Amino acid sequence: MTPTVSATVDTGALRHNLGVVRQRAPRSRVMAVIKANAYGHGLVAVARALDSADAFAVARVDEGLTLRQAGVLTRTILLEGVFDADQLAAAAAAGFELVVHTAEQIDLLRAAPAGTTFNIWLKLDTGMNRLGFKPAAFRAALAALSDLPAVQSPVNLFTHLSSADGTDPSTTVDQLALFSTVTASLPGERSIANSAGLLGFEDSQADWVRPGLLLYGASPFAATVGADYGLRPAMTLHSHIIAVKDIEPGERVGYGGLWTAARPTRLAIAAVGYGDGYPRSVAPGSPVLINGQRVPLAGRVSMDMIGIDVTDLPAPRLGDPVILWGDGLPVEEVALWAQTIPYELLCGISQRVAVTIR
Ligand SMILES: Cc1ncc(COP(=O)(O)O)c(C=O)c1O
Repeated sequence: MTPTVSATVDTGALRHNLGVVRQRAPRSRVMAVIKANAYGHGLVAVARALDSADAFAVARVDEGLTLRQAGVLTRTILLEGVFDADQLAAAAAAGFELVVHTAEQIDLLRAAPAGTTFNIWLKLDTGMNRLGFKPAAFRAALAALSDLPAVQSPVNLFTHLSSADGTDPSTTVDQLALFSTVTASLPGERSIANSAGLLGFEDSQADWVRPGLLLYGASPFAATVGADYGLRPAMTLHSHIIAVKDIEPGERVGYGGLWTAARPTRLAIAAVGYGDGYPRSVAPGSPVLINGQRVPLAGRVSMDMIGIDVTDLPAPRLGDPVILWGDGLPVEEVALWAQTIPYELLCGISQRVAVTIR
């Protein structure tokens, strides 16, 4: 037994999920979103597994440079673009493509050294009010960019959906209509869809889809899990039982004694906690998987440990593996118990979790 918490990343599942994305968006190319350490799965390992993606998208220059240093030469788009001349020079040397969303970034490109050129994705803010030019400023930004020797022609067109994972389609319908009006008759390729857009709004698929979560096997919609779309979880988070004890009815468990045994209870303690990225916010009752059986958490999550009510398991033993999410227990379900989203759980595994690629 090793007490180490480990995350196993299944590269076969990653590739399978990319195949599902291609089936769902057969006319689009795929910009695989691998920012934030590929949602916790390991940036370089995921890039290698998904080497058939048409391009990668990362948020920041450093993430792109990590890919290049590892020898990954696939087209790479910086979703936030660059913010100073040093970053611009690094991006040029690495051959990154840039999202441009502010006037300052156009100024940086204007001052680019002679001979540097970039493939640009000009971002329209269709209502998310995060990054991008407002519709009224978009055509002027495009004209300014198109004049610059550092900008390859044509400029590509980009927006992001704020609410495609929700139950009311109206915001997305409005965003798509606005994008279509503002970009009507412009040349350049178009990219709109994240995972939820790709699944829920065929019109959003355009020339390039930008899935993140789907590639990791999870659903962006609160009411469904990845398996509903034929996806396979790429990450399974495991630990082990490090103690088993019997407690009497009325005895309380964990910090604050928040959970009280209602019956003679066999309790297992597993070596995983919020120090590993397992969320402290999960409610008692939230499931973990031991020997293929779902069993409920008892008491609060500690930094390094959780308590589990294993009374209904035939023979729980020290060293038995415990699955926190992944194979057999969708991370989406744990996210609901934690009142968060699967993105946060996947990205949030800590540096002390050993990630194993297989
Ligand atoms: C601009 C942009 N495009 C695409 C994505 C991928 O989103 P998802 O993981 O929901 O597919 C993200 C992720 O946050 C993003 O910021």
